[in-house]
Amino acid sequence: MNNKQLVAIQAATYVKDGMLIGLGTGSTANYFIEELARRQRDDGLKVTTVASSTISANMAQSLHLPIVALEHISRIDLYVDGADEITPEMTLLKGRGSDLVKEKLLAKAATQFIVVADTSKLVSYIGQNFVIPIEVIPFAWQLTKKNLEDVGAEGDLRPNAAKDGLWISSHGSYVLDMKFDKSIDAKTLNDLINNTPGVVEHGIFYGLADTILIVENGIVTELRA
Ligand code: A5P
Repeated sequence: MNNKQLVAIQAATYVKDGMLIGLGTGSTANYFIEELARRQRDDGLKVTTVASSTISANMAQSLHLPIVALEHISRIDLYVDGADEITPEMTLLKGRGSDLVKEKLLAKAATQFIVVADTSKLVSYIGQNFVIPIEVIPFAWQLTKKNLEDVGAEGDLRPNAAKDGLWISSHGSYVLDMKFDKSIDAKTLNDLINNTPGVVEHGIFYGLADTILIVENGIVTELRA
């Protein structure tokens, strides 16, 4: 069993019969989805799921997990997802994929949000290893970018994979991948981007994680907010 699988299985021990479970996106979250399906098959676990992305929804469907659409829920019991960066204060950077809006909605809607990751995700400040993805309404991108540049940010629109067009999120937004001065603390950065007109959502998850399960060399450590 590899480290990601181990931490995902540990997260699945929080799952109880009757829960509505949010499914994250990424390689670690995939192991969690597989474990839910295994427990449904082998142990008769009864859960309903809601996915943070089309790819996770497709996976859940192919594994016969009951799935409901995001627009039909108002709260969930548990959300389990990975992260791209995790600070000592439990602020996360997420959203390398195309679904950070759904990811943040589920993180906020969850009674408990558990993050599953290995130690490669631990950083001292948000933006240490990755740029900050900021989804913008397409017609606003230039004004939004200018507002962010005025507070010292640098970056540009994310190109598509072939680099012959723009990356479009699942909801039709453009994504600005921006770098900020590392001296700006996570709360200030979160507030600043939240207050920028044209921003649909961004990848800083501030004050949302309840529990972080970190795995290294087969040992899982639990951090709590
Ligand atoms: C997806 O948009 C991200 O927020 C993921 O949660 C993140 O990329 C984690 O993926 P891995 O588990 O594959 O590292």
